[in-house]
Amino acid sequence: MAETPEMVAPNTSEIYHPNASIVEQSNVMAYARRKGIESYDELHKWSLEHNEEFWADMANELEWYSPWEKILDDSNKPFYKWFTGAKTNIIHNAIDRHLKTWRKNKLALIWEGEDGTHRTFSFFALNREVNKIANVLKSMGVKKGDIVTIYMPRIPELMFSMLACAKIGAAHSVVYGGFSEAALADRLADAKSKVLITADGGFMRNKVIELKKIVDEALSRTPTVQTCLVFKRTGHAVDMVQGRDLWMHDLLNLPIANTFCPTEEMDSEDMLFILYTSGTTGKPKGVVHTHGGYQVGTSTTLRYVFDVKDEDRYWCAADPGWITGHSFIVYAPLLCGVTSIMYEGAPNYPYPDRWWQIVARTGVTILYTAPTAIRGLMRFGELWPTRHDLSSLRLLGSVGEPINPEAWKWFYEVIGHKNCPIMDTWWQTETGHFMITPTPVVPLKPGSATKPFLGIEVDVVHEDGSTCAPNEDGLLVIKRPWPGMLRTVLNDPQRYVDNYWSRLDGVYAAGDSARKDEDGYIWVIGRLDDVIKVSGYRLGTAEVESALVSHPAVAEAAAIGLPHEVKGNAIHAFVILRAGFEGNHALEEQLRAHVGHELGPIARPDSITFTPSLPKTRSGKIMRRVLKARALGQPEGDVSTLEE
Ligand code: PRX
Repeated sequence: MAETPEMVAPNTSEIYHPNASIVEQSNVMAYARRKGIESYDELHKWSLEHNEEFWADMANELEWYSPWEKILDDSNKPFYKWFTGAKTNIIHNAIDRHLKTWRKNKLALIWEGEDGTHRTFSFFALNREVNKIANVLKSMGVKKGDIVTIYMPRIPELMFSMLACAKIGAAHSVVYGGFSEAALADRLADAKSKVLITADGGFMRNKVIELKKIVDEALSRTPTVQTCLVFKRTGHAVDMVQGRDLWMHDLLNLPIANTFCPTEEMDSEDMLFILYTSGTTGKPKGVVHTHGGYQVGTSTTLRYVFDVKDEDRYWCAADPGWITGHSFIVYAPLLCGVTSIMYEGAPNYPYPDRWWQIVARTGVTILYTAPTAIRGLMRFGELWPTRHDLSSLRLLGSVGEPINPEAWKWFYEVIGHKNCPIMDTWWQTETGHFMITPTPVVPLKPGSATKPFLGIEVDVVHEDGSTCAPNEDGLLVIKRPWPGMLRTVLNDPQRYVDNYWSRLDGVYAAGDSARKDEDGYIWVIGRLDDVIKVSGYRLGTAEVESALVSHPAVAEAAAIGLPHEVKGNAIHAFVILRAGFEGNHALEEQLRAHVGHELGPIARPDSITFTPSLPKTRSGKIMRRVLKARALGQPEGDVSTLEE
């Protein structure tokens, strides 16, 4: 066979250089200058050589009730601890300290409902709302160390409830409002929550999502929950179970809901929240994050990667129910004192220009989203964004999966008008914050998350731990601990050790495959379970999909490997066509040839199915496992995270 792995390597030579004024004014170069360092690469090198000094500098940007004794405690690997001995509470840094400054009157949150309603909260107002909820929780007996489950639509009260838990030292476990009753029940049971915070419902595409009904079903199977606190969003009729369910608007009007509530002093390593990973394979795990290290990691990465400044209006268009929302809608923007935007509804409701309308009307300067959303909006054509003034934008961001160069370029050209660098941030629920990411001073290669962040050491290795050659596929590993890392898996520390630290001795195995090119840029291929071996060559499903999506007829694609007698695996692709194209044999042949042309003959799908939709997790990841099971006529396995 003539094919070689190089034939399927991405185009690693295309580079977009940042303009000089962005570099000059960046937060990260201001830090470099403070350290007497001239270049970003040098700063990265320094941050590894002086890792503790670097993270201590970052921690010193925040306030602590009392100082740490140790920056990193690695006496019980892999159960690393950060800033041990320090007293803190993330709420002190996210809210309390701003109230002592002019930021008290600054907007913390601009919320837009799908129905066009606007609500805005200054840091002062945010503090008031959080305190009231915190006092209600206390009156319900919630104490430091309890885990409160939150199941809410995308309304400000979701964020306030999370912050209220943290304030009084309770951990929150947010279950995404799109999950089914079984998923909610499992998570409630695992966390043994006594209190659940929810709402009557939420709006999505002008339809009422009946959350309370789902809650009622979940609670019939979860005896631990004694109190269910219900916010009113939709106003539709819901059942309220006497002795268990209480309306929040009633409680918030009682004297117990005082607007003053002291912030609980926590140990640096006390639990801040648990978040169940979406789990495209296996049962969801409750990832544990803590107050001290997480606040340092999230604030540092937002400050240097999205370069936030006081004049910014920052919009992370994720759902607060995912790690992206936890870290980069709720905590990091508040820690950095930046104004952020939250939007309740669907990106294309009532028209495909809803997002662009929000950008223009609100003056968004930084927009952080996911490739799946970009591709979704790209489908509707350029006319929708070009109708709006998007000139306020200065930085764009992407997260969640490798971004195909096609979507990257559309985002860069049509949305960013070639003025806005794209921060392609690689990280995970487990990592808490960005790990591999550019900052605005790093030259970009479309489709690569570029290089490890400051203080972070990453490698691409073989199964035996040895470093791969440039452009060779390998396992993505993180070679030293970092402050925002998960501390354990709730109720299952062994799973923490086995899942992340046992595969390769002493390093964190991310579960992704990747390549590092000759310039040290990392190209994440995808989850290891999404790698297809064809004739001995490893192909990322993402690459095949990216090739398909680069064809004008294709809106979205999923590739899986199916057993093949000769090649080991044959690629089978599922394709959603753009409007105006018809799925027929001729087009199938054209697409197969197109992929062959883009990636090399080895990657040409053996067959293609045209489909109107793809099975996805609620976070938008295609569940290839389900496609594969269906194609093979096998049971679909755990589908509790499936969207529909
Ligand atoms: O495979 C990587 C992919 O998403 C995984 C983590 O998923 P989750 O915990 O749901 O967190 C998503 C949001 C942080 C990773 O193992 N992933 C995430 N970001 C990127 C990515 N793959 C490529 N490029 C990215 N920027």
